[in-house]
Amino acid sequence: MPRLFVALPVAEDVVAELARMGRSGLDGWRWVRPEAMHLTLAFLGEVEQARVPAAERAVRASVTGQPALGLEAAGLGAFPDQRRARVLWAGLAGDLRELAALHRALSQALRDEGFEVDAKPFHPHVTLARARAPQPLPSSLDRSRRFGAWRTGEVRLYESHLGPGGPRYEVLATAALGGEGGRPPR
Ligand code: 2AM
Repeated sequence: MPRLFVALPVAEDVVAELARMGRSGLDGWRWVRPEAMHLTLAFLGEVEQARVPAAERAVRASVTGQPALGLEAAGLGAFPDQRRARVLWAGLAGDLRELAALHRALSQALRDEGFEVDAKPFHPHVTLARARAPQPLPSSLDRSRRFGAWRTGEVRLYESHLGPGGPRYEVLATAALGGEGGRPPR
C-alpha cells in the first residue's frame, strides 16, 4: 500500500544552505538528502491504492482561499528535545498564521475524505538529520542560524518509497496556492 504524506517544497537555494550544515560533519547523524527535504503538513501513512484519489481531492480542496506563503527557514531545534535529540530540524518564520490556516484546512479536507489526521499541535519544521541514537545537540551548532527565505506556491501529495539508501519521495499530485479562493464562477 502506498505510504503518503502532504508537504510543502523548500526552495532549492534554501535546501542548499540547509544541506551545507550536513557537510560540516556532525558525527552520529544521518542527513536527509537535499532533494528529500520538505515541510510536512500531514502524514497519512499506508493508504489503500484505491484511496489515493481521495487524498488528491483533499489536497486540492485544502488550497481553496489559501494564499501563497512567504516562508523562511530559521533556527535549529530537536525532537523530542535538545538533550535527547533524535531529529534535528530547521524552524520556520514568515507567514506562520497563514501556514497554520493551511494546515487546519488540509486537516479538515482530509477528515472530510475519511482520513484519520493527527490531532497533535502542528510544529512546522524541516527535518535535516536523524540521530542514530538519542544524544544532546552538539554545542557547536548555532541554533539561531537563518537559511534563507522563499515563496511557496504549491502543496504536494507525496508517496514515500522506503529503501536501503533512505526514502525516495515521489510527487503524486500538486495543488496551487493563491488561486481564486473558491469563489463561485460567474
Ligand atoms: P518530518 O520528517 O517532516 O518530521 C515522510 O515520511 C514524512 O512524514 C517525514 O518527513 C515525517 O515528518 C513524516 N512522518 C513519517 N512518519 C511519521 C509518523 N509516524 N507520524 C507523523 N509523521 C510522520
